[in-house]
Amino acid sequence: MANLKTLDVFFSLNSFQEEELRDKAVVVIDVLRASSTIVTALMNGAKAIIPVSDMGEASKIAQNVDSENYLLCGEKDGIKIEGYDLGNSPREYTPEVVGGKKLIFNTTNGTKAIKKSIGSSNLYIASFLNVNAILKALKEETKDIVLICAGWKGRLAFEDMLLAGNIIHLLSDGELPDSSRDGAKVAFGLYDKYGDDVTSVVHQSNHAARLNELEATDDIDYCCQIDITDVIPRLKEGMITLKNG
Ligand code: MLT
Repeated sequence: MANLKTLDVFFSLNSFQEEELRDKAVVVIDVLRASSTIVTALMNGAKAIIPVSDMGEASKIAQNVDSENYLLCGEKDGIKIEGYDLGNSPREYTPEVVGGKKLIFNTTNGTKAIKKSIGSSNLYIASFLNVNAILKALKEETKDIVLICAGWKGRLAFEDMLLAGNIIHLLSDGELPDSSRDGAKVAFGLYDKYGDDVTSVVHQSNHAARLNELEATDDIDYCCQIDITDVIPRLKEGMITLKNG
């Protein structure tokens, strides 16, 4: 961690201003499910993901591209949007479906958090699925690091803070640096308390309850798998592609 200056965590997409990210390395986290879906899509051969803030932006882009090479994807309140090719279950994003495609991706919180973070100096997407790959990318960073939890409609989401805490633990070898900001301290403490059993505590979260109601319980188990891939999704010129691709 020799290069690390400060480490901070914002608990939802409403908890920061765009200007605060200037000249920072940023990691956006939406464990359930947008960041897990992005990681899965790239792992399974999607060429790029275009994050959008809302349905209007998604349809504007969709109208101007060749529909053979693009898929319109995402959800509103967890439910697939009518007329879209895919919803937001990472398990839909198989190699057969997404291989070679560009995805226009619109979700309730995750893609909004990404769009709001666009002015940062480097922007990565993290999930439990690729946590060590993200750690590797962050270790090469010389900028201050901000982890942005997408949360749910301005509120904190337990699973996002838990992953933020996991990343901080790994970055700091279990010893929180003095330069850590309050958000980093809270996430670190949360992971200290609950990090031993990620799957069972995430199953008890508010968003897990929402997904259970939508019969998407299997997505929770999927998103709690640790390090199934080494993909590093990075935003460049408005598109998320593989840093290590
Ligand atoms: C979001 O962006 O809020 C989520 O990914 C919601 C979901 O679980 O689909």
